[in-house]
Amino acid sequence: MTLHPGSLLPMAIYPIRTFPDPVLSMTTSAVTVFDDDLARLVDDMLDTMYDAPGVGLAAPQIGVSKRLFVADVGEGPFVMVNPSIVDTEGKWKFEEGCLSVPGKYWTIKRFDYVVVEGVDAAGRPVAYDGDELMGRVLQHEIDHLDGMLLLSRLGQRVKKQALKELREESLGIGQAF
Ligand code: NI
Repeated sequence: MTLHPGSLLPMAIYPIRTFPDPVLSMTTSAVTVFDDDLARLVDDMLDTMYDAPGVGLAAPQIGVSKRLFVADVGEGPFVMVNPSIVDTEGKWKFEEGCLSVPGKYWTIKRFDYVVVEGVDAAGRPVAYDGDELMGRVLQHEIDHLDGMLLLSRLGQRVKKQALKELREESLGIGQAF
């Protein structure tokens, strides 16, 4: 059994849901109860994110259709519950991937800078802002909470090709057996 550093709780790593799992395209419900179960869920999401490894993880990615995500862009872990984007600035194109569409990267145009408001796992108001990686992670995770994957951000032609590739991979075409 593996233990959390500095804690007696066992780590819980969830399997990460991947495209086309329907939970990934559902709109999540707002969190209304801030109890020990929510704190535990946040802990488990952080364990799962670090294990992946990823810089962000939204609840639907472990099959929980609730409005929260965890992230760590190198400045320490944080959680946002019921987040929404309240301000934006500029545009930035950058190569982006997702734990739920493993091994795929696309150039995605997003806001360069965003301000996001929500609450923490205890229901206290929090706000995060950032540009570049931080701004991108905030937008990517909120997309997950609105049932959107990277695929929804692609242009028509690129999206068609991406879906074809994903379909072929899920059918095992190109594998030898
Ligand atoms: Ni993702």
